[in-house]
Amino acid sequence: MQGSNPERTILINAGNNSNYQSLMAAVEYKYIVAGLDRSGFDAIGLGVWDAALGLDTVTAVAAGSPTDIICANVEGFVPFLRFNKAAGKVLVTSVIDPKLIELFKLKKVVVSDPIKAISRLQREIKHDIFILILHAQGERIHELLAQISGVDLVIDGETGRIEKKTLEVYGKSVARNNFGGKYVSYVDLIQDDRKSHLQVSQPVLSRVSAKTVAEDPEIKILVSQYEEERRLFIKKEQERRRKAAMKHRKPVNLYLGSGWCGSCHGEIEKKWSESHHAQAIKSLEKKKREFDLECLTCHVTGLGDKSAVGGFVSLEASSKMVGVQCEACHGPGGKHAQSPLKTKMKLVTEKNCRICHNHDTDPDFSFARDYKKVDHGKDIKDAK
Ligand code: HEC
Ligand code: HEC
Ligand code: HEC
Ligand code: HEC
Repeated sequence: MQGSNPERTILINAGNNSNYQSLMAAVEYKYIVAGLDRSGFDAIGLGVWDAALGLDTVTAVAAGSPTDIICANVEGFVPFLRFNKAAGKVLVTSVIDPKLIELFKLKKVVVSDPIKAISRLQREIKHDIFILILHAQGERIHELLAQISGVDLVIDGETGRIEKKTLEVYGKSVARNNFGGKYVSYVDLIQDDRKSHLQVSQPVLSRVSAKTVAEDPEIKILVSQYEEERRLFIKKEQERRRKAAMKHRKPVNLYLGSGWCGSCHGEIEKKWSESHHAQAIKSLEKKKREFDLECLTCHVTGLGDKSAVGGFVSLEASSKMVGVQCEACHGPGGKHAQSPLKTKMKLVTEKNCRICHNHDTDPDFSFARDYKKVDHGKDIKDAK
């Protein structure tokens, strides 16, 4: 950070910098880590969204990054960093809750017991101040923190939210400031004369100015390198998909487009055509991103679905598959349209919505509430 005093400050990024569902996730992660390094960060945590990229990808990025990516309970990462500061020796580490790895079904990521890893560091590495980046969710934060002591500050690496004050959890101060890099917050260490130990101040929050960051010459270079890499990626990916689509001789099923569905489900189609889902491509056009595969994934229908042909490939090749159409929720309908009574469409599940309404794009998504907005009203039964 500009104007900060290296004698006194440590810049920590808690992790979860990747959106592993994005097509270019690995490339993005590489550039984000490079950007953090250029911005002067001293340590980067490993979050579950990062781990979901595949450990090979993340360790390769870590190997190429001057700023270390730390994690004490996943092999292949630097387990801790120690900084000699005016206030003393500061030990910084990061752990991931194995329960989170289970939740994300990351079978290939081996995590050891975070409590044991923390205790070992506390025992073996001399330090005056201990800062822990904790990747755990909900009740698990409490369960884990109840089992450790001697932590001066916990940074909640999972919550995509910010709180102006640290929370007290089992006597530990927990800071939350993970808001997609849009904020930085800092704490001061206060010497408490009476108790003769260090205390952590309340975090001071300030918004990162996107404009200032974008104007930084080094960041500018990174962005243009990224844009170039993205352009090449898109070109290659489109070519690969075109070839794959041609190879697919025996289609299991076929995407038809909402026009076809409308020929039997007219009422539903009419109502749907006035919905946000139908307009999803327009939102990209407004942002001049309608060519961008990374955005298109969730704003079109059938992109990347290998189980059927006819889904979105590119604007030129499949212009009628734009927007979030019937088949984005109900699945490809070719077989169903041929024999509707014999081939039932699958039921729409929460998982289905969450492919697009994820914690990045729609943190407030609620299946129970939002389902009612898209089920066409239970009274509609118009198929003849
Ligand atoms: C293929 C991706 C995709 C799927 C699957 C999907 N959505 Fe969406 N949804 C979107 C996009 C993109 C938008 C924003 C459209 C726009 O305005 O550009 C959106 C918008 C919405 C909106 C309107 C938001 C508003 O503020 O009015 C609701 C409600 C919604 N979706 C609910 C659902 C539900 C419930 C499901 C599952 C049954 C679902 N969606 C499945 C991509 C998807
Ligand atoms: C993982 C799926 C996903 C990806 C990828 C995605 N979006 Fe969206 N987008 C959504 C969903 C879901 C919504 C609706 C969110 C809501 O209801 O609040 C949305 C909403 C929007 C809206 C708001 C529509 C409005 O005016 O209310 C815009 C604009 C938009 N997206 C642009 C983009 C751009 C640009 C990209 C690429 C950088 C992108 N999206 C990538 C899922 C996605
Ligand atoms: C955002 C997701 C979404 C989109 C887009 C969507 N539907 Fe649905 N549809 C649902 C949900 C949810 C239900 C409720 C039943 C279920 O869970 O499968 C439903 C139910 C239906 C039903 C059964 C109606 C009944 O009363 O049982 C039909 C028919 C249907 N949809 C057709 C369509 C057609 C045709 C389109 C496009 C014009 C479309 N849907 C677009 C989510 C969607
Ligand atoms: C040739 C007419 C026809 C076409 C085309 C057609 N459907 Fe249907 N659909 C039906 C009939 C008939 C039913 C059964 C209605 C009932 O049971 O009330 C049905 C039922 C459904 C259901 C309820 C679940 C089920 O399978 O019974 C969904 C969802 C659905 N259609 C979606 C679609 C979608 C999406 C498309 C476009 C890809 C589509 N349909 C195209 C005639 C058609």
